Amino acid sequence: MGRHFSCPAFLPQLRGIALASANAAAGKRDDSQPYFNIYQGPDEQDSIINDASTQLEYTLSGGQPYPNPYMSDRLGTTGPLLLQSTNLIEQLAHFVRERVPERTVHAKGAGAHGYFEVTTDVGANYSMADVFSTIGKRTPVTARFSTIAGNLGNADSVRDLRGLAFKLRTDEGILDWVFLNHPVFWLRDPAKFPHFIHSQKRNPQTNLLPDYNNFWDYLSANNESIYQVMRTLSDLGTPYGFRHMNGWSGNTFRAIKEDGSWVYLKISAYTDQGVKNNTNAEAILQAGQNADFGVQDLFEAIEAGNYPSWTIYFQVMTPKEAETFKYNIFDLTKEWLPEDVPLQEVGRITLVQNPLNHFSEVEQIGFDPAQMPNGLAATEDPTLQARLFAYGDAQRYRTGVNHKQLPINCPFNPVANFLRDGAMSFNNQGKRPNFWSQQDLLGLEVRPYNDDNHTIWVGGAVAYVSTPSEIDFDLPRIFWNGLSERDRDNLVSNIIWHLGQASDTSIRTKQCQIFAHVNETFGQLVAKGINVTL
Ligand code: HEM
Repeated sequence: MGRHFSCPAFLPQLRGIALASANAAAGKRDDSQPYFNIYQGPDEQDSIINDASTQLEYTLSGGQPYPNPYMSDRLGTTGPLLLQSTNLIEQLAHFVRERVPERTVHAKGAGAHGYFEVTTDVGANYSMADVFSTIGKRTPVTARFSTIAGNLGNADSVRDLRGLAFKLRTDEGILDWVFLNHPVFWLRDPAKFPHFIHSQKRNPQTNLLPDYNNFWDYLSANNESIYQVMRTLSDLGTPYGFRHMNGWSGNTFRAIKEDGSWVYLKISAYTDQGVKNNTNAEAILQAGQNADFGVQDLFEAIEAGNYPSWTIYFQVMTPKEAETFKYNIFDLTKEWLPEDVPLQEVGRITLVQNPLNHFSEVEQIGFDPAQMPNGLAATEDPTLQARLFAYGDAQRYRTGVNHKQLPINCPFNPVANFLRDGAMSFNNQGKRPNFWSQQDLLGLEVRPYNDDNHTIWVGGAVAYVSTPSEIDFDLPRIFWNGLSERDRDNLVSNIIWHLGQASDTSIRTKQCQIFAHVNETFGQLVAKGINVTL
């Protein structure tokens, strides 16, 4: 069998490379009959990946058969162990190096494989990216769903945001859609991100998660978070597993056509399983009964042939429309409500295959919103700009400088560039020049449009941090007004349960004042529930 996630385009070129510089005239070896194939070893290991243990026999890491995995060499049956005990030494040495650093955020997660299928011509109408080109076109996808604040072993039913990340291996390179289950985020100034995350993580002294004072200390001092606060403290904050939630790109991107015309773009993924949330009490019970509920639910659904899917939508805005839109389109705390900017169906992602090996296919996968094929592009959205750096940097730290050579991250189309060497360079691009040689000239894409100066900036660099204002309360009020009575009751009681555990009265009061600014009744209800006088 072939590789599961190979780099097929590389192999024909690299497999043919002979080490010796054959020169037929000089009577040397014939280059067309390679003597050494650098991929013979990896191919051999790949060919047995689905073999049962009973078909194989135990070997040391170098492939040497060895009679007993438990055996060590020692002096007599009671004497000291010997350094020649390679079987013991390599098992211990490998064991203590088994972990790669867990993700600083989104550590706990589950993943699966499937495909993206184009269902309309909407994508092609707005973008030249080949992935949207034809109705019915399918692109291989790996998805990963996650919680944010908890560690790798934490319960996945807890109140938190969820990540929905999709890696599309398009014919023109990787496209990573790195979404959340909310259309907005807690902040719009990227330098706040580490502060915010730290405040939601374990207390540096007590190691408690969450630390209720820290959790609300940050939020009560950064009012632009209020819409995300209300969404997360409603039952939307406790989704039922990973299959029943929607996902949004949050950030604003651009979709570009061959002629250079472009629109601003937000992308979303609506669950075809229907949105389903837990109440606070159900989430606490579920987290206590099974810390891996979401992981198990996803795996078992796919195993049973009950393939989950998400319909993908575009929301687009012309540059002209963006100028007069009621919110700054680069403010990550604001969403484009579908009644203002309609949802247009583009395609569907369906997950049909569980990982064979969680570590190789889910833990080592790395998503990065900077990974986009031609026809999709970034905007000056400041949190997007920060993300364009942070994710690639996270991969370089977590799985190394050659993380894209890992089978799960490897593009399905040829990669040819001048990035070379570094730890674990599995594919070092053979003998092709490691600089832009004019003798062995690397071809260049002919981009049909010129994207220079799509925006003209006036003025110089400024040091900037945004100031919360009245407009930050617009969406929270729409949200509150749109809630059913039951959802309002749950929102209020969830907040009372959560904020009530913050012992600092000034923090509780400050946060209640923010709720009261959204809606007086709402603020008073919470205040009453936690013994605060407004
Ligand atoms: C300033 C804002 C943000 C910064 C600096 C940031 C940074 C990061 C970093 C460093 C990671 C860990 C990557 C890794 O170790 O592999 C991560 C993971 C993630 N982020 Fe963000 N993030 C931000 C906002 C957002 C937003 C707005 C979204 C979506 C709308 C998002 C979705 C995700 C998801 C889904 C993951 C997990 C990916 C996976 O499953 O591996 N983040 N983020």
